[in-house]
Amino acid sequence: MSTVVITGTQWGDEGKGKIVDYLAQQADTVVRFQGGSNAGHTVAVNGEEYKLRLLPSGILYQGTRCVVGNGVVVDPQVMLEEMDAMEARGIDVSGIRLSNRAHVVLPYHRIMDGLGDEARGKNKIGTTKRGIGPCYMDKANRIGIRVCDLMDKEEFAKRLKENLAIKNTELEKLYQHEPLDYDAVLKEYEGYAERLRPYVCDTIALLNDEVKAGRKILFEGAQATMLDIDYGTYPYVTASHPISGGVGVGAGVAPNKIDKVVGVVKAYCTRVGEGPFPTEQLNAIGDKLRDAGHEFGTVTGRPRRTGWLDACVVRYAGLLSGIDYMAITRLDILDGFDEIQMCVGYKYKGELLNEIPASLKVLAEVEPVYEKFEGWKTDISGIRSYDQLPANARKYLERMAEVTGIGLGIVSVGPNRDQTIVIAKDIF
Ligand code: GDP
Ligand code: IMO
Ligand code: MG
Repeated sequence: MSTVVITGTQWGDEGKGKIVDYLAQQADTVVRFQGGSNAGHTVAVNGEEYKLRLLPSGILYQGTRCVVGNGVVVDPQVMLEEMDAMEARGIDVSGIRLSNRAHVVLPYHRIMDGLGDEARGKNKIGTTKRGIGPCYMDKANRIGIRVCDLMDKEEFAKRLKENLAIKNTELEKLYQHEPLDYDAVLKEYEGYAERLRPYVCDTIALLNDEVKAGRKILFEGAQATMLDIDYGTYPYVTASHPISGGVGVGAGVAPNKIDKVVGVVKAYCTRVGEGPFPTEQLNAIGDKLRDAGHEFGTVTGRPRRTGWLDACVVRYAGLLSGIDYMAITRLDILDGFDEIQMCVGYKYKGELLNEIPASLKVLAEVEPVYEKFEGWKTDISGIRSYDQLPANARKYLERMAEVTGIGLGIVSVGPNRDQTIVIAKDIF
């Protein structure tokens, strides 16, 4: 297979970076197609940790092309900082390509993200404050500034002036924030433009040529199904489409050119930010999951909310993204548990529900139906084949496949590249 989409099935932080890095060993190209620097993808190689926000998780392989597609909202400052940090660690960044159609995050997006979310008071989303929502708002409002505009000195100066006139009024009148200085922003972004210019191209043409040539391409989703603006727990979602369908709009590669979809599933469940989370454990179990898994956000450092695996959510993700295989991560975090639970259905007012409810009021009130599993109480981080996993671990995984209707593709037992068990041999 030559085109594979990696998508998050829960509320993010499933370990997409680890799985993409693992599969990228065989890839020619790795592509980000949505989101922006709200993502925090951690890759661990030879005891070294790399935290990626905008750069695709294929960057650690010499010669791999890393594309930031048109559907991404790009903060040039973050992108350049990441590139500099990579170079300082001896990593070649010459394979990066940035779409000329990607939208640019500007300082007012970041400021308004923070102030806007605070202004919601108790209804706040708990965004990452990276300007993601406001940048996508401008895109939908047809006043966004794209990379091709940033590359055109005159056009950028003109568009920035027009936008700042609107944004400064909003900053002052709505948020009592001091206005941004046109000359300072212009100068700052002109500097970014010159540094980014060598990497900018028409990535739609590039990717479609690669598809035609049969090259191996990985599409790296950020965030996850339950944070999708249409399918997630709206309004507690991000502003883009993390499902596999996001590739069509965010990379310009048509749906019939996608060969396989892999859904990344954390063996339990976490969420950062506000919003419903049916299997959340606000108790000693939740604390144990957080401690065992060191569950603190990569981008914001916030403690992640923790709970049992919700197989209803994974089944829903499977349906929406056409997931062929699950890549189950962090199974090792459950090593110390005597008992593990899995949510296999929701009950609402005593009735079993067949769908994930659209209404957040209903979702907040559903009662998860749990199945209990005996823990394996063994360190599995050194195991490298499926047969060698403890019987109780296999039982848990096989039940997960049964309830979600999705096959087992990969099982990850640690953050490092080699701590990976591949079950499906036809992923890539
Ligand atoms: P992403 O946003 O989906 O890429 O996930 P994050 O990087 O935010 O969070 C996943 C964390 O789990 C990272 O620190 C990874 O290094 C780590 N990780 C990934 N797979 C495994 C695994 O199988 N076991 C353990 N213990 N850690 C893992
Ligand atoms: P990765 O790719 C987990 C959450 C935020 C907030 C909501 C909206 O590392 O899995 P935003 O800044 O996007 O407007 O915030 O979405 N969120 C994530 N949660 N992992 C992520 O990315 C996330 N990106 C955004 O916490 O609840
Ligand atoms: Mg993350």
